[in-house]
Amino acid sequence: MRYLDIGTTRKISKIGLGTWQFGSREWGYGQQYADQVAHSIVRRALELGVTLFDTAEIYGFGRSERILGRALGEDREAVFLATKLFPLLPIAPVVEQRAVASANRLGTRRLDLYQVHQPNPVVRDGTIMRGMDALQRVGLVGEVGVSNYSLQRWRAAEDALGGRVLSNQVSYSLVVRSPERDLLPFAESHDRVVIAYSPLAQGLLSGRYDRDNRPANRLRAASPLFLPDNLDRAGDLIGVLREVADAHSATPAQVALAWVIHRPAVVAIPGASSVEQLESNAAAAEIQLAGDEYGALQAASDRFSPVTGPAALPLIARARLGR
Ligand SMILES: NC(=O)c1ccc[n+]([C@@H]2O[C@H](COP(=O)([O-])OP(=O)(O)OC[C@H]3O[C@@H](n4cnc5c(N)ncnc54)[C@H](OP(=O)(O)O)[C@@H]3O)[C@@H](O)[C@H]2O)c1
Repeated sequence: MRYLDIGTTRKISKIGLGTWQFGSREWGYGQQYADQVAHSIVRRALELGVTLFDTAEIYGFGRSERILGRALGEDREAVFLATKLFPLLPIAPVVEQRAVASANRLGTRRLDLYQVHQPNPVVRDGTIMRGMDALQRVGLVGEVGVSNYSLQRWRAAEDALGGRVLSNQVSYSLVVRSPERDLLPFAESHDRVVIAYSPLAQGLLSGRYDRDNRPANRLRAASPLFLPDNLDRAGDLIGVLREVADAHSATPAQVALAWVIHRPAVVAIPGASSVEQLESNAAAAEIQLAGDEYGALQAASDRFSPVTGPAALPLIARARLGR
Protein backbone atom coordinates (compact mmCIF):
# COMPACT_ATOMS: atom_id res chain seq x y z
CA MET A 1 0.00 0.00 0.00
CA ARG A 2 1.08 3.59 -0.54
CA TYR A 3 0.08 6.51 1.69
CA LEU A 4 -0.36 10.26 1.33
CA ASP A 5 2.39 12.41 2.77
CA ILE A 6 0.54 15.45 4.10
CA GLY A 7 1.06 15.30 7.86
CA THR A 8 -2.31 14.02 9.09
CA THR A 9 -2.24 12.36 12.53
CA ARG A 10 -3.31 9.07 10.99
CA LYS A 11 -2.04 8.00 7.60
CA ILE A 12 -4.32 7.94 4.58
CA SER A 13 -3.94 5.07 2.11
CA LYS A 14 -3.93 5.92 -1.61
CA ILE A 15 -6.55 3.20 -2.08
CA GLY A 16 -9.31 3.30 0.49
CA LEU A 17 -12.60 1.47 0.76
CA GLY A 18 -15.98 2.99 -0.13
CA THR A 19 -18.88 1.43 1.76
CA TRP A 20 -22.02 2.80 0.11
CA GLN A 21 -22.58 -0.83 -0.94
CA PHE A 22 -22.89 -1.96 2.72
CA GLY A 23 -26.57 -2.53 3.55
CA SER A 24 -27.88 -0.23 0.82
CA ARG A 25 -30.86 -1.21 -1.33
CA GLU A 26 -29.58 0.62 -4.43
CA TRP A 27 -26.68 -1.76 -4.90
CA GLY A 28 -28.90 -4.79 -4.20
CA TYR A 29 -26.12 -7.09 -2.96
CA GLY A 30 -28.49 -8.75 -0.48
CA GLN A 31 -28.52 -9.92 3.10
CA GLN A 32 -25.54 -12.26 3.01
CA TYR A 33 -23.38 -9.46 1.67
CA ALA A 34 -24.54 -7.10 4.43
CA ASP A 35 -24.16 -9.74 7.17
CA GLN A 36 -20.96 -11.50 6.14
CA VAL A 37 -19.20 -10.40 2.96
CA ALA A 38 -18.98 -6.74 4.00
CA HIS A 39 -17.35 -7.78 7.28
CA SER A 40 -14.78 -9.95 5.45
CA ILE A 41 -14.04 -7.12 2.99
CA VAL A 42 -13.21 -4.73 5.87
CA ARG A 43 -11.07 -7.29 7.72
CA ARG A 44 -9.08 -8.10 4.54
CA ALA A 45 -8.69 -4.39 3.77
CA LEU A 46 -7.09 -3.90 7.19
CA GLU A 47 -4.67 -6.78 6.55
CA LEU A 48 -3.67 -5.21 3.24
CA GLY A 49 -2.82 -1.84 4.78
CA VAL A 50 -5.95 0.07 3.76
CA THR A 51 -6.48 2.87 6.31
CA LEU A 52 -9.05 5.09 4.59
CA PHE A 53 -12.63 3.90 5.15
CA ASP A 54 -15.46 6.05 3.80
CA THR A 55 -19.12 5.88 4.77
CA ALA A 56 -22.07 8.28 5.23
CA GLU A 57 -25.09 8.60 7.46
CA ILE A 58 -27.40 8.16 4.46
CA TYR A 59 -25.85 4.91 3.15
CA GLY A 60 -28.49 2.32 3.96
CA PHE A 61 -29.93 4.87 6.40
CA GLY A 62 -27.17 4.24 8.95
CA ARG A 63 -26.65 0.55 8.14
CA SER A 64 -23.34 1.16 6.36
CA GLU A 65 -21.93 3.01 9.40
CA ARG A 66 -23.08 0.20 11.73
CA ILE A 67 -21.65 -2.58 9.54
CA LEU A 68 -18.35 -0.74 9.11
CA GLY A 69 -18.04 0.08 12.82
CA ARG A 70 -18.69 -3.53 13.84
CA ALA A 71 -16.25 -4.90 11.28
CA LEU A 72 -13.46 -2.52 12.30
CA GLY A 73 -13.90 -3.45 15.97
CA GLU A 74 -10.79 -2.71 18.02
CA ASP A 75 -8.95 -1.61 14.88
CA ARG A 76 -11.14 1.46 14.44
CA GLU A 77 -8.59 3.54 16.37
CA ALA A 78 -5.83 2.68 13.88
CA VAL A 79 -7.58 3.80 10.69
CA PHE A 80 -8.60 7.07 9.05
CA LEU A 81 -12.36 6.86 9.43
CA ALA A 82 -14.45 9.16 7.26
CA THR A 83 -18.19 9.72 7.29
CA LYS A 84 -20.57 12.34 5.93
CA LEU A 85 -23.39 14.52 7.04
CA PHE A 86 -26.32 15.12 4.69
CA PRO A 87 -26.97 18.85 5.15
CA LEU A 88 -30.77 18.95 5.07
CA LEU A 89 -30.94 21.28 8.07
CA PRO A 90 -27.49 22.82 8.12
CA ILE A 91 -27.45 24.54 11.49
CA ALA A 92 -24.74 24.08 14.10
CA PRO A 93 -26.72 22.19 16.80
CA VAL A 94 -28.03 19.72 14.20
CA VAL A 95 -24.53 19.18 12.79
CA GLU A 96 -23.25 18.43 16.31
CA GLN A 97 -26.10 16.05 17.11
CA ARG A 98 -25.68 14.19 13.79
CA ALA A 99 -21.94 13.77 14.35
CA VAL A 100 -22.62 12.17 17.73
CA ALA A 101 -25.19 9.84 16.11
CA SER A 102 -22.71 8.80 13.39
CA ALA A 103 -19.95 8.24 15.96
CA ASN A 104 -22.32 6.05 18.00
CA ARG A 105 -23.27 3.95 14.98
CA LEU A 106 -19.58 3.59 14.10
CA GLY A 107 -18.73 2.82 17.73
CA THR A 108 -15.99 5.42 17.83
CA ARG A 109 -15.10 8.44 19.93
CA ARG A 110 -13.53 10.24 16.99
CA LEU A 111 -14.39 10.84 13.35
CA ASP A 112 -11.07 11.38 11.60
CA LEU A 113 -12.80 13.10 8.71
CA TYR A 114 -16.31 14.56 8.85
CA GLN A 115 -17.56 15.61 5.42
CA VAL A 116 -20.48 17.67 4.19
CA HIS A 117 -22.03 15.28 1.64
CA GLN A 118 -23.40 17.90 -0.78
CA PRO A 119 -23.35 21.66 -0.91
CA ASN A 120 -26.69 22.94 0.35
CA PRO A 121 -28.13 24.90 -2.60
CA VAL A 122 -29.82 27.57 -0.47
CA VAL A 123 -27.84 27.88 2.75
CA ARG A 124 -24.21 28.93 2.70
CA ASP A 125 -21.68 27.05 4.84
CA GLY A 126 -21.23 29.49 7.73
CA THR A 127 -23.68 27.68 10.02
CA ILE A 128 -22.42 24.17 9.18
CA MET A 129 -18.85 25.25 9.76
CA ARG A 130 -19.75 26.70 13.17
CA GLY A 131 -20.91 23.20 14.08
CA MET A 132 -17.76 21.66 12.59
CA ASP A 133 -15.58 24.09 14.55
CA ALA A 134 -17.32 23.12 17.82
CA LEU A 135 -16.86 19.42 16.98
CA GLN A 136 -13.15 19.92 16.29
CA ARG A 137 -12.72 21.82 19.56
CA VAL A 138 -14.16 18.99 21.64
CA GLY A 139 -12.11 16.44 19.67
CA LEU A 140 -15.01 14.47 18.18
CA VAL A 141 -13.91 15.50 14.68
CA GLY A 142 -10.31 15.48 13.47
CA GLU A 143 -10.41 16.93 9.96
CA VAL A 144 -13.29 18.62 8.16
CA GLY A 145 -14.07 17.72 4.54
CA VAL A 146 -16.62 18.52 1.85
CA SER A 147 -18.03 16.57 -1.07
CA ASN A 148 -19.29 17.55 -4.50
CA TYR A 149 -18.04 21.12 -3.93
CA SER A 150 -16.76 23.51 -6.59
CA LEU A 151 -13.35 25.04 -5.89
CA GLN A 152 -14.98 28.37 -5.10
CA ARG A 153 -17.28 26.81 -2.52
CA TRP A 154 -14.47 24.68 -1.05
CA ARG A 155 -12.45 27.84 -0.42
CA ALA A 156 -15.51 29.64 0.97
CA ALA A 157 -16.00 26.71 3.37
CA GLU A 158 -12.39 27.15 4.54
CA ASP A 159 -12.99 30.86 5.14
CA ALA A 160 -16.14 30.02 7.12
CA LEU A 161 -14.30 27.40 9.20
CA GLY A 162 -11.23 29.58 9.68
CA GLY A 163 -9.02 26.54 9.06
CA ARG A 164 -8.27 23.87 6.52
CA VAL A 165 -11.02 21.84 4.92
CA LEU A 166 -8.76 18.91 4.18
CA SER A 167 -10.59 17.21 1.36
CA ASN A 168 -13.21 17.40 -1.34
CA GLN A 169 -14.79 14.06 -2.30
CA VAL A 170 -15.82 14.14 -5.94
CA SER A 171 -16.44 11.82 -8.84
CA TYR A 172 -13.11 11.29 -10.60
CA SER A 173 -12.24 8.57 -13.08
CA LEU A 174 -11.31 8.03 -16.73
CA VAL A 175 -14.98 8.79 -17.40
CA VAL A 176 -15.29 11.95 -15.27
CA ARG A 177 -12.29 14.26 -15.58
CA SER A 178 -13.69 17.64 -14.53
CA PRO A 179 -11.74 17.76 -11.20
CA GLU A 180 -8.55 18.16 -13.27
CA ARG A 181 -9.60 21.69 -14.19
CA ASP A 182 -9.13 23.33 -10.81
CA LEU A 183 -9.66 20.95 -7.85
CA LEU A 184 -6.52 18.88 -8.46
CA PRO A 185 -4.17 21.84 -9.02
CA PHE A 186 -5.56 23.48 -5.83
CA ALA A 187 -5.14 20.30 -3.78
CA GLU A 188 -1.64 19.71 -5.10
CA SER A 189 -0.44 23.21 -4.28
CA HIS A 190 -2.14 23.52 -0.87
CA ASP A 191 -1.63 20.09 0.75
CA ARG A 192 -5.29 19.26 0.35
CA VAL A 193 -6.80 15.99 -0.84
CA VAL A 194 -9.20 15.02 -3.61
CA ILE A 195 -11.01 11.83 -2.62
CA ALA A 196 -12.07 10.15 -5.87
CA TYR A 197 -15.45 8.45 -5.65
CA SER A 198 -16.78 6.10 -8.34
CA PRO A 199 -13.15 5.66 -9.54
CA LEU A 200 -14.26 2.61 -11.55
CA ALA A 201 -17.29 4.48 -12.94
CA GLN A 202 -19.40 2.12 -10.82
CA GLY A 203 -17.82 -0.93 -12.41
CA LEU A 204 -17.95 0.20 -16.06
CA LEU A 205 -14.14 0.42 -16.19
CA SER A 206 -13.74 -3.20 -15.09
CA GLY A 207 -14.65 -4.14 -18.65
CA ARG A 208 -16.99 -6.87 -17.46
CA TYR A 209 -20.15 -5.21 -18.83
CA ASP A 210 -21.33 -4.81 -22.41
CA ARG A 211 -24.68 -4.44 -24.23
CA ASP A 212 -25.46 -8.15 -23.76
CA ASN A 213 -24.40 -8.19 -20.12
CA ARG A 214 -25.64 -5.10 -18.33
CA PRO A 215 -25.60 -4.83 -14.53
CA ALA A 216 -28.95 -5.75 -13.02
CA ASN A 217 -29.15 -3.57 -9.93
CA ARG A 218 -31.47 -0.56 -9.73
CA LEU A 219 -28.73 2.01 -9.51
CA ARG A 220 -26.86 1.06 -12.64
CA ALA A 221 -29.90 -0.03 -14.67
CA ALA A 222 -31.05 3.59 -14.35
CA SER A 223 -27.65 5.12 -15.09
CA PRO A 224 -27.11 6.56 -18.58
CA LEU A 225 -23.53 5.29 -18.44
CA PHE A 226 -24.73 1.69 -18.62
CA LEU A 227 -27.02 2.22 -21.61
CA PRO A 228 -26.27 -0.29 -24.40
CA ASP A 229 -25.13 2.55 -26.70
CA ASN A 230 -22.77 3.92 -24.06
CA LEU A 231 -21.37 0.48 -23.29
CA ASP A 232 -20.62 0.19 -27.03
CA ARG A 233 -18.96 3.61 -27.00
CA ALA A 234 -16.82 2.60 -23.98
CA GLY A 235 -15.33 -0.30 -25.97
CA ASP A 236 -12.33 1.69 -27.19
CA LEU A 237 -11.43 2.93 -23.68
CA ILE A 238 -11.81 -0.56 -22.23
CA GLY A 239 -9.60 -1.86 -25.04
CA VAL A 240 -6.79 0.55 -24.09
CA LEU A 241 -7.23 -0.37 -20.40
CA ARG A 242 -6.83 -4.03 -21.36
CA GLU A 243 -3.67 -3.36 -23.36
CA VAL A 244 -2.02 -1.46 -20.49
CA ALA A 245 -3.27 -4.07 -18.01
CA ASP A 246 -1.69 -6.90 -20.02
CA ALA A 247 1.68 -5.15 -19.87
CA HIS A 248 1.45 -5.10 -16.05
CA SER A 249 -0.16 -8.55 -15.64
CA ALA A 250 -3.05 -6.64 -14.14
CA THR A 251 -6.74 -6.13 -14.82
CA PRO A 252 -8.51 -3.16 -16.48
CA ALA A 253 -10.03 -2.22 -13.10
CA GLN A 254 -6.58 -2.09 -11.50
CA VAL A 255 -5.22 0.10 -14.28
CA ALA A 256 -8.24 2.41 -14.01
CA LEU A 257 -7.46 2.84 -10.29
CA ALA A 258 -3.71 3.27 -10.90
CA TRP A 259 -4.59 6.05 -13.35
CA VAL A 260 -6.78 7.84 -10.77
CA ILE A 261 -4.19 7.78 -7.98
CA HIS A 262 -1.32 8.71 -10.33
CA ARG A 263 -1.91 12.35 -9.36
CA PRO A 264 -0.20 13.07 -6.02
CA ALA A 265 -3.12 14.66 -4.15
CA VAL A 266 -5.66 12.00 -5.12
CA VAL A 267 -6.81 8.98 -3.15
CA ALA A 268 -9.49 6.61 -4.45
CA ILE A 269 -12.26 4.85 -2.52
CA PRO A 270 -13.57 2.04 -4.75
CA GLY A 271 -16.47 -0.01 -3.46
CA ALA A 272 -16.28 -3.81 -3.71
CA SER A 273 -18.85 -6.56 -4.13
CA SER A 274 -16.43 -9.29 -3.00
CA VAL A 275 -13.21 -9.86 -1.04
CA GLU A 276 -11.44 -10.68 -4.31
CA GLN A 277 -12.34 -7.26 -5.74
CA LEU A 278 -11.07 -5.56 -2.61
CA GLU A 279 -7.77 -7.48 -2.86
CA SER A 280 -7.40 -6.55 -6.50
CA ASN A 281 -8.18 -2.88 -5.78
CA ALA A 282 -5.67 -2.67 -2.92
CA ALA A 283 -2.97 -4.20 -5.13
CA ALA A 284 -3.56 -1.46 -7.72
CA ALA A 285 -1.70 0.92 -5.40
CA GLU A 286 1.55 -0.81 -6.45
CA ILE A 287 1.09 -0.23 -10.20
CA GLN A 288 3.20 2.62 -11.57
CA LEU A 289 2.07 3.72 -15.00
CA ALA A 290 4.72 4.81 -17.51
CA GLY A 291 4.30 8.24 -19.12
CA ASP A 292 3.18 6.81 -22.47
CA GLU A 293 0.66 4.51 -20.78
CA TYR A 294 -0.80 7.40 -18.79
CA GLY A 295 -1.02 9.44 -22.01
CA ALA A 296 -2.69 6.63 -23.98
CA LEU A 297 -5.34 6.26 -21.27
CA GLN A 298 -5.86 10.01 -21.21
CA ALA A 299 -6.34 10.07 -25.00
CA ALA A 300 -8.80 7.15 -24.92
CA SER A 301 -10.69 8.92 -22.15
CA ASP A 302 -10.84 12.08 -24.30
CA ARG A 303 -12.31 10.07 -27.18
CA PHE A 304 -15.06 8.55 -25.01
CA SER A 305 -18.25 10.58 -25.39
CA PRO A 306 -21.23 8.89 -23.76
CA VAL A 307 -24.77 10.00 -24.54
CA THR A 308 -25.93 11.94 -21.48
CA GLY A 309 -28.56 14.49 -20.46
CA PRO A 310 -31.88 14.81 -22.32
CA ALA A 311 -30.49 12.86 -25.31
CA ALA A 312 -30.19 9.80 -23.06
CA LEU A 313 -33.85 9.80 -21.95
CA PRO A 314 -35.35 7.97 -24.95
CA LEU A 315 -32.49 5.47 -24.79
CA ILE A 316 -33.19 4.82 -21.09
CA ALA A 317 -36.87 4.28 -21.90
CA ARG A 318 -35.96 1.87 -24.72
CA ALA A 319 -33.51 -0.03 -22.48
CA ARG A 320 -36.25 -0.37 -19.80
CA LEU A 321 -38.54 -1.93 -22.37
CA GLY A 322 -35.73 -4.35 -23.24
CA ARG A 323 -35.32 -3.13 -26.78
N1 LIG B 1 -19.72 11.66 -2.00
C1 LIG B 1 -20.59 11.19 -2.88
O1 LIG B 1 -21.51 11.88 -3.32
C2 LIG B 1 -20.40 9.77 -3.35
C3 LIG B 1 -21.11 9.31 -4.48
C4 LIG B 1 -20.88 7.99 -4.90
C5 LIG B 1 -20.00 7.17 -4.20
N2 LIG B 1 -19.34 7.65 -3.09
C6 LIG B 1 -18.38 6.80 -2.34
O2 LIG B 1 -17.44 6.26 -3.24
C7 LIG B 1 -17.42 4.83 -3.13
C8 LIG B 1 -17.10 4.22 -4.48
O3 LIG B 1 -17.94 4.71 -5.52
P1 LIG B 1 -19.03 3.80 -6.24
O4 LIG B 1 -19.36 2.67 -5.35
O5 LIG B 1 -20.09 4.71 -6.72
O6 LIG B 1 -18.30 3.29 -7.57
P2 LIG B 1 -16.98 2.44 -7.90
O7 LIG B 1 -16.11 2.32 -6.73
O8 LIG B 1 -16.44 3.05 -9.14
O9 LIG B 1 -17.60 1.02 -8.30
C9 LIG B 1 -17.84 0.03 -7.35
C10 LIG B 1 -18.36 -1.23 -8.05
O10 LIG B 1 -17.45 -1.63 -9.10
C11 LIG B 1 -17.33 -3.05 -9.12
N3 LIG B 1 -15.92 -3.38 -8.79
C12 LIG B 1 -15.19 -2.95 -7.72
N4 LIG B 1 -13.95 -3.45 -7.74
C13 LIG B 1 -13.87 -4.22 -8.84
C14 LIG B 1 -12.84 -5.01 -9.40
N5 LIG B 1 -11.63 -5.11 -8.84
N6 LIG B 1 -13.09 -5.67 -10.56
C15 LIG B 1 -14.31 -5.59 -11.17
N7 LIG B 1 -15.33 -4.86 -10.68
C16 LIG B 1 -15.11 -4.18 -9.53
C17 LIG B 1 -18.31 -3.59 -8.07
O11 LIG B 1 -19.58 -3.80 -8.69
P3 LIG B 1 -20.02 -5.20 -9.40
O12 LIG B 1 -19.14 -6.29 -8.91
O13 LIG B 1 -21.46 -5.37 -8.98
O14 LIG B 1 -19.91 -4.91 -10.87
C18 LIG B 1 -18.42 -2.42 -7.11
O15 LIG B 1 -19.60 -2.40 -6.36
C19 LIG B 1 -18.80 4.47 -2.56
O16 LIG B 1 -18.80 3.22 -1.91
C20 LIG B 1 -19.01 5.61 -1.60
O17 LIG B 1 -18.30 5.38 -0.39
C21 LIG B 1 -19.53 8.94 -2.69
